[in-house]
Amino acid sequence: MMDGTSAVATGPESYQYIEVIPFAGSMGAEIQGVDLANMDDATFDELYAAWLCHHVVVMRDQKITPDQQIAFAHRFGDIHHHPYMSGMPDYPDIIEIVKEPGDNYTFGSSWHTDQMFNPQPAKATMLYAHEVPSAGGDTIFANMHLAYEALSDGMKAMLVDVKTWCVGDRFKKDGGGKRADRYKGNTVMADKVRDPGNLITECAHPLFRTHPETGRKALYMGGHVQTFDGFEEAEAEPILDFLREHSVRPEFTCRVNWEPGTLTLWDNRSVQHYAIPDYNERRRMHRITICGDTPF
Ligand code: SIN
Repeated sequence: MMDGTSAVATGPESYQYIEVIPFAGSMGAEIQGVDLANMDDATFDELYAAWLCHHVVVMRDQKITPDQQIAFAHRFGDIHHHPYMSGMPDYPDIIEIVKEPGDNYTFGSSWHTDQMFNPQPAKATMLYAHEVPSAGGDTIFANMHLAYEALSDGMKAMLVDVKTWCVGDRFKKDGGGKRADRYKGNTVMADKVRDPGNLITECAHPLFRTHPETGRKALYMGGHVQTFDGFEEAEAEPILDFLREHSVRPEFTCRVNWEPGTLTLWDNRSVQHYAIPDYNERRRMHRITICGDTPF
């Protein structure tokens, strides 16, 4: 228990086919006894329940081909395609995230929740490690249920009907620069940036969202939040500043370190994440996101 909040959502927490080993007080569990290339429905059902309960689940030593990762992803829903980043030529469902020595920008290196600028943001993201630096390159996560629950009743009441205004590019917090400019000079990622065309990349979302499967409330914050819908900037900014800092308090976070063969699956309806840009070696990951529904 932290600040009167419970770290873990309700779940079965008794499993027949898998072993679930929490690795932080806030959330996050390693799942043992799974082979993602070959998983029966009963094992998958337990894995899904553990994922809803722990929000971030980590599976080590997996050997899967791109086709097998795509097949596993389909068990969670339809695959979402990033409006600003191309998938692999042979596997458009997978974005290959590559950082080479000397590259200056790291994909995902700010607190965010995936596709928050989409009217139906991504439900889940799965990242599979192929090559990792000898040290560094971890990903950290923050539990947005805990962040919501730790707000005072007064703050919750004041903000209960507030909507955020979210954008897919030119984030104010990064100085308003274009996405494409951030990747300029990056060896591999620069060529993946694309124009979203007619896709919707700006929208409003409830600041407090309800998880559609567990019913638990979460603070829905992330780097795509530009302001509060219908507020003057001077009114919204001090509250947003507080919420940005509050939402990623260390006691809400967990940290995943990667090895080749690690696959981590996170719930974008419950967590923010941040790829730590603290290395200068090759890192190569395969990332798939799953379509979600309209937040409420
Ligand atoms: C992401 O933000 O989806 C990428 C996270 C990472 O590369 O660790």
